[in-house]
Amino acid sequence: MMEVSSSFQKVLKTSPSRKKALVIRINLLCLAMFLIVYATLLFRPSSSIYFENAASLVKCSLRECHHKAEKSIKMKAVMEEPQVKAPKMPKKNAMKIEKPSFFDQIMGKGVKNIGMVNFDEEEDDVSEWNMQGEKTIIPIHFEKVSSQFNWTDLFPEWIDEEEESDVPSCPDIPMPDFNVYQNMDIIVAKLPCNNNKEGWGRNVYRLQVHLIVANLAVKNKGKRDYGRLKTKVVFLSKCRPMLEIFRCNDLVKNDGDWWYYEPDLKRLEQKVSLPVGSCKLALPLWEQGIDKVYDTSKIQKMVTKNAKTKREAYATVLHSSDDYVCGAIILAQSLLRTGTERDLILLLDNSISVAKRRALSASGWKIRIITRIRNPKAEKHSYNEYNYSKFRLWQLTDYDKVIFIDADIVVLRNLDVLFHFPQMSATGNDQSIFNSGIMVIEPSNCTFNVLMESRYDIVSYNGGDQGFLNEIFVWWHRLPRRVNYLKNFWANTTLEASKKNHLFGAEPPKLYSIHYLGLKPWYCYRDYDCNWDVEDQRVYASDVAHHKWWKLHDQMDKKLQRMCRLTKRRRTNLNWERRKASKLGLPDQHWKINITDPRRSGSLLMN
Ligand SMILES: *[C@@H]1O[C@H](CO)[C@@H](O)[C@H](O)[C@H]1NC(C)=O
Ligand SMILES: *[C@@H]1O[C@H](CO)[C@@H](O)[C@H](O)[C@H]1NC(C)=O
Ligand SMILES: *[C@@H]1O[C@H](CO)[C@@H](O)[C@H](O)[C@H]1NC(C)=O
Ligand SMILES: *[C@@H]1O[C@H](CO)[C@@H](O)[C@H](O)[C@H]1NC(C)=O
Ligand SMILES: *[C@@H]1O[C@H](CO)[C@@H](O)[C@H](O)[C@H]1NC(C)=O
Repeated sequence: MMEVSSSFQKVLKTSPSRKKALVIRINLLCLAMFLIVYATLLFRPSSSIYFENAASLVKCSLRECHHKAEKSIKMKAVMEEPQVKAPKMPKKNAMKIEKPSFFDQIMGKGVKNIGMVNFDEEEDDVSEWNMQGEKTIIPIHFEKVSSQFNWTDLFPEWIDEEEESDVPSCPDIPMPDFNVYQNMDIIVAKLPCNNNKEGWGRNVYRLQVHLIVANLAVKNKGKRDYGRLKTKVVFLSKCRPMLEIFRCNDLVKNDGDWWYYEPDLKRLEQKVSLPVGSCKLALPLWEQGIDKVYDTSKIQKMVTKNAKTKREAYATVLHSSDDYVCGAIILAQSLLRTGTERDLILLLDNSISVAKRRALSASGWKIRIITRIRNPKAEKHSYNEYNYSKFRLWQLTDYDKVIFIDADIVVLRNLDVLFHFPQMSATGNDQSIFNSGIMVIEPSNCTFNVLMESRYDIVSYNGGDQGFLNEIFVWWHRLPRRVNYLKNFWANTTLEASKKNHLFGAEPPKLYSIHYLGLKPWYCYRDYDCNWDVEDQRVYASDVAHHKWWKLHDQMDKKLQRMCRLTKRRRTNLNWERRKASKLGLPDQHWKINITDPRRSGSLLMN
């Protein structure tokens, strides 16, 4: 379903070294600590000590672990002598910053300290905010990121996520000294926003200001531990603040350029403790270079105890045609085989017949009927005219979290651990974007409304939902590629083919899922991957992955298998593609293979 680029050529790297064993062991220690702290972070987020540790442990990899001790000593030294610099006076011709209309309502009696982020003390005059002289206006000092710092430094196309020859690291974004600013009653920030320029959303300076505010809110110890006071946050911005960090659910008031939030601090806490971009994995799931998985059973148990499972679900979407019905059935069956106890939710529009709906629900899906959503910028009757139907996922508000999975994916290992990640978590695609084949999302009516409103402004680079969602969620968290392993071979080398085919075929599985790009397995004869026979689809051809899919198919109930039959039309095309491959004498010679698939027979075709 999705596009990928040549970047995957870089996937193959050689690695052998004798040091590696030691390296892995040390890394393991780091990671084990990381996991423990991470679990603490997730399940007891109110304890205050974990936070600084977690944030630094996210950075903990072989090379960096040693610096931790030093850093914490420095922190302590600073803590002993906190200093708030006195604000400068505004210039005579400084611009008066009008109070927001809801100023009196939110800056009432209890509010004393107002932290100002990214206002210019000399140019922005806020003296009016303190007419009675009872407020303290505190400018938050920080070093602005260099203009040489590009978005791609935070969201590189590729990282060595299995640490075969390198340890991924993220560049530092300068932050204020948080120990100095601990008693803010309210944080007011001016956001840079240049929405006339293309690509304005991917701006490191803009992200920096968001992250400073998020960290100030989270680390505001003085204000949070007593009586669960929420830190108030106000933005001055022409553009909507990043909803990846400040959820629209937490937006209390918006008046013109003023935005007032009462953020859910637990969620914010988790987000600021994750890596700052996709320059690192959000959570390394396994030992580097090895295929063994971390034991997440402890995390699982804690979650089950929380009885949270009821509000989490896997979901997929079918609309406009029944082409993917068979895919969705196999997906459900593959999910059930992983032993998950989450609900499986299928969003369907009325293009799917009643008989097919029955089969889909027999395969494990709970069905919900939706009205599909048109992309107003798509051409009429184009293949991707209704691809925005995926937005309906955000209306599943009876769930806190949903893992969306494309219907051309089969799941090979339990993915429940993904429910611990925030929206938007996904695997990388190319450039700075994520692949929308598997996404962790948080349903929310207001997010849905933002998506719907943005349909008219945002141009999706590929006309599909992936391009669109990448413009809304520019700040995302990288999941390991093995979570959503794309079936493609861009490098076109025997080394790439042998490595990837090894992964596709491994038993027990080494991949969490396989994403069947190109022609779908149910559109081929079972004898071989029919992507071989079509020249521009050959990069997707893998007999190993193909047979993996058919093995799942064969383990399924016979009644359900019927949904995977060929149509007459598809059979005609398939035979034609075979003949063409034979005429061209394609060198892989798959067209020579005799077809034994019973689905070839006229009596076994679908109407
Ligand atoms: C960021 O991009 C600019 C122009 O595209 C380039 O000149 C600069 O070297 C880049 N900075 C880094 C650190 O790569
Ligand atoms: C979201 O909107 C739907 C109606 O469109 C409503 O039924 C549902 O309760 C809303 N969810 C929340 C959490 O407000
Ligand atoms: C749009 O949806 C159709 C049908 O679900 C799918 O085949 C196609 O790949 C999608 N296109 C994009 C660009 O996502
Ligand atoms: C792969 O490489 C071979 C030769 O090395 C070439 O003939 C073939 O066209 C390439 N295939 C693709 C899809 O690029
Ligand atoms: C395919 O079938 C033909 C005729 O039925 C037979 O002659 C040929 O040997 C078979 N080829 C293979 C590879 O089995």
